[in-house]
Amino acid sequence: MHIGTTLTNYIIETQRQIQGATGEFTGLLNDIAVACKKISDLVNKGDLIGVLGSAGSENVQGETQKKLDVITNEVFIEALAHNGHVAGLASEEMDEIYQLPADAPRGHYLVLFDPLDGSSNIDVNVSVGTIFSIIKAPPGVVQPTTEDFLKPGAEQCAAGYCLYGPSTMMVFATRDRGAQMFTLDKDFGEFLLTHENVQIPEDTAEFAINASNSRFWEAPVQRYVDECLAGSEGPRGKDFNMRWVASMVAEVHRILTRGGVFLYPLDEKLKTKGQGGKLRLMYEANPMSLIIEQAGGASTTGRERILTMRPEGIHQRVPVVLGSKNEVERIASYHLD
Ligand code: AHG
Ligand code: MN
Ligand code: MN
Ligand code: MN
Repeated sequence: MHIGTTLTNYIIETQRQIQGATGEFTGLLNDIAVACKKISDLVNKGDLIGVLGSAGSENVQGETQKKLDVITNEVFIEALAHNGHVAGLASEEMDEIYQLPADAPRGHYLVLFDPLDGSSNIDVNVSVGTIFSIIKAPPGVVQPTTEDFLKPGAEQCAAGYCLYGPSTMMVFATRDRGAQMFTLDKDFGEFLLTHENVQIPEDTAEFAINASNSRFWEAPVQRYVDECLAGSEGPRGKDFNMRWVASMVAEVHRILTRGGVFLYPLDEKLKTKGQGGKLRLMYEANPMSLIIEQAGGASTTGRERILTMRPEGIHQRVPVVLGSKNEVERIASYHLD
């Protein structure tokens, strides 16, 4: 595919190679792109249109919602619920799965999404994003059940994210066709292919972790970070750099661009709160893991590959270690000792 082709063209072209493709998937991706363009515009205007700050409400995971958490969730529903491409939706910002209105046509897909990732960064004008995961709906379903959504990440048809940074970029991966990067041309109003078949370097000297949690870490994570910090004098024999944006989308984008490893491990503080991790399996860890693996990287909880986990709930939390393959495998091996 040539650089500069539109996202829609890219999907049409690749779908053409699949027997029996009906155009529904192309339509769905188009709906998602429309939602992301709207969100990009809202995030861009920010304070000018009064969308920053807290909404004063709480979501199902006990987080205080930002106004934009609520608004972006509505943007997604509006863009997807009436076009006949989905049979149901699930989101970080909705306690239960979303059932389509009775009169809306049903499609063959279910979409799970994090409408605004990194929302603690929104008020300080730092990059945020949107994450989405697409799975097949059971044939003919009108009112899908939560069970229908709880598929292992390896069964995702596609996953992607949109990064609202200095540029707005969409990264999209299917199960067997690699990861592609598109950049929004705002004058033109289209996402254009700017990087085809992204590949993550296997080795790295850059890691990302919220070090304020270090006193709560488990021994394998502590060991890994200690060895990085020891630099060229330590067992790794090289100096490491550290980055933490606090928007997973931005961290994953950096890793896709120049390699690195991202960790949000399980720690004692999370365990005390009864949580299995910080990040959510269905709309954060699974879609990002598909993208990372399609780009030649690896993704694990430390103890198991994320994409083969059996999900137990829409808002289930899991530990996440992802990025450059050799580094992720090293961290997983520390968990075996
Ligand atoms: P969200 O804003 O969708 O709730 O996700 C926030 C996540 C993720 O994007 C980021 O990596 C992490 O939370 C940041 O956590 P800390 O605030 O603990 O650094
Ligand atoms: Mn949140
Ligand atoms: Mn998030
Ligand atoms: Mn979010």
